[in-house]
Amino acid sequence: MNKITIAIDGFSSTGKSTIAKQIAKALNYIYVDTGAMYRAVTHFALKNNLIGDGFFNSTELINKLNEIKISFKFNEELGFAEVYLNEVNIEDSIRTLEVSRFVSPVAAISEVRLKLVQQQQLMGKDKGIVMDGRDIGTVVFPEAELKIFMTASAETRAKRRYKELLERGHNLSYNDVLDNVTTRDHIDSTREDSPLVKAEDAIEIDNSDLTIEEQITTLLELAHKYI
Ligand code: DC
Repeated sequence: MNKITIAIDGFSSTGKSTIAKQIAKALNYIYVDTGAMYRAVTHFALKNNLIGDGFFNSTELINKLNEIKISFKFNEELGFAEVYLNEVNIEDSIRTLEVSRFVSPVAAISEVRLKLVQQQQLMGKDKGIVMDGRDIGTVVFPEAELKIFMTASAETRAKRRYKELLERGHNLSYNDVLDNVTTRDHIDSTREDSPLVKAEDAIEIDNSDLTIEEQITTLLELAHKYI
């Protein structure tokens, strides 16, 4: 069977990764969460005191980029690949609101993007991949056969994210989450390098009122059409 590349882009907390994971599983494709890679670099910057409230030493981060090795290892029990930074599993540490607060400025640095985009293109060179992010259909795989652009209102997305973080045991307010979602949307969409925009040939899906099952069915139908 022909293998294709599926690019899923969209705003923060649109549930891209939940859907992408399921699609990849159903098609027996590789799934790559590129947001996790930008979060891994942000985790590194936080641990090395290169970013924090009111400061960002981006020059030093750029100098240290060769000390950052990001990899994914499939966890049989969880059924998806977890992200590792220099061989340490950081899957949980990168899902905090702290990392979410600093990830957009880090992702705006061209040197960071260059390094990660090269790695992403290598991972997808043989197709048979579902990749989610912000610039997959526009920059990483402009030739992808199927491009999806996910949207939902900021309130819907913040509510979903808030619930997810509470379930993970984080103590935070809904307003902090809503503020983070809208701030990230703004920085991600207005940055100079590879801003979040819908690719011309992407199919837009507003999932505010769609269940996960409905989204999976729609996407699988589309995928099979292209395959
Ligand atoms: O998908 P996510 O919310 O985990 O992504 C975290 C941040 O990483 C997001 O706010 C913007 C950045 N990002 C990006 O710039 N390009 C990508 N391909 C994926 C994520």
